[in-house]
Amino acid sequence: MAVLVTGGAGYIGSHTCVELLNAGCEVVVLDNLSNASEKSLERVKQITGKDVTFYKGDILDREILEKLFAENTIDSCIHFAGLKAVGESVQKPWEYYHNNISGTLTLVDEMRRHNCKNIIFSSSATVYGNPAQIPITEECPKGECTNPYGWTKSMLEQVLSDIQKADPQWNVILLRYFNPIGAHKSGLMGENPNGIPNNLMPYITQVAVGKLKELGVFGNDYDTPDGTGVRDYIHVVDLAAGHVKALKKIEERAGLCIYNLGTGHGYSVLDIVNNFEKANGVKIPYVIKPRRAGDIATCYSNADKAEKELGWKAENGILEMCEDSWRWQKNNPNGYEEA
Ligand code: NAD
Ligand code: UFG
Repeated sequence: MAVLVTGGAGYIGSHTCVELLNAGCEVVVLDNLSNASEKSLERVKQITGKDVTFYKGDILDREILEKLFAENTIDSCIHFAGLKAVGESVQKPWEYYHNNISGTLTLVDEMRRHNCKNIIFSSSATVYGNPAQIPITEECPKGECTNPYGWTKSMLEQVLSDIQKADPQWNVILLRYFNPIGAHKSGLMGENPNGIPNNLMPYITQVAVGKLKELGVFGNDYDTPDGTGVRDYIHVVDLAAGHVKALKKIEERAGLCIYNLGTGHGYSVLDIVNNFEKANGVKIPYVIKPRRAGDIATCYSNADKAEKELGWKAENGILEMCEDSWRWQKNNPNGYEEA
């Protein structure tokens, strides 16, 4: 029995492949490499000493899905594949709805045709919008998303929930990630953004390595302890481990389940800068800039439900997240590309 990992060459997907292989699972990856390098999968092999079966292809492509299901016995799917750049989604809504929504509908249709009815879906804290309560529990109502990317997550949660309701043979686990950062401890795998990073940690590491001059801090007038935005940063390896626990939950025939994957702690932008400097002894120059459109002041989880029901808890603290992000960037200044 194998696990299909869509988007398995990407940032979270590649780290999850390592955890799955270490847990003894057989892994089949489908990725069109639109935002990833196949080298990440070579690193997965280097770390684990085990291979994944890789198909370069698209979740929208029924032919490759047919082939993949014919050639492997797939029991469950961990579905990471999707476009994820918030700003780009505002510019290219059709591309985001098509890739993420049509792609998932195609994938799920092929899954059921091959009697594979177990799916773990990469959702996001973004579905809470401007959250009605802090810390955010899974009972917190979903909110208004501020961009098409966020809506794809919110809508796909609904689609998958409705499919499970109509056919209770399905097991659907919606994992709402908070802010993944960090990298594998080996320094061999990490986040590999194209162009100028949108997210905080890759921006910081690129300042640290000298590729960018200074960090722009988007607003210092929020209603937070130091005025900068507060988020729940979670180590990507902890997040990856959460998927192995979710697979175990599926074996119990879980039906529909929703879990926050976060640490339960909030850190401001300046907390992250300070912890990065402390962990790594590198100075991060920054300037205060205006607020970024669509940002909220504070977002952090209550992650008790995942601990209680999955036996999962994030283990790495903020200093380890900063150390591991830096080790990856320092050892691989151009990500997976050669210098
Ligand atoms: P990523 O871009 O590194 O990984 C996504 C992968 O999917 C990439 O390898 C890309 O090439 C592939 N892909 C995209 N469209 C595809 C398609 N149509 N067919 C096949 N492959 C396709 O992103 P990530 O940070 O690893 O995120 C993984 C998932 O988690 C995404 O669904 C993302 O929306 C979600 N998520 C990420 C974050 C975050 O901050 N990183 C937060 C919440 C949720
Ligand atoms: N920030 C800066 N400067 C930067 C980048 C970010 O000050 O150059 C600030 C932001 O304003 C925010 C915080 O750092 O206060 C975190 O920003 P990120 O862009 O790293 O992350 P977001 O919380 O905005 O969004 C991320 C993902 C979304 C996902 C969300 C919740 O990008 O896809 O986490 O999981 F939906």
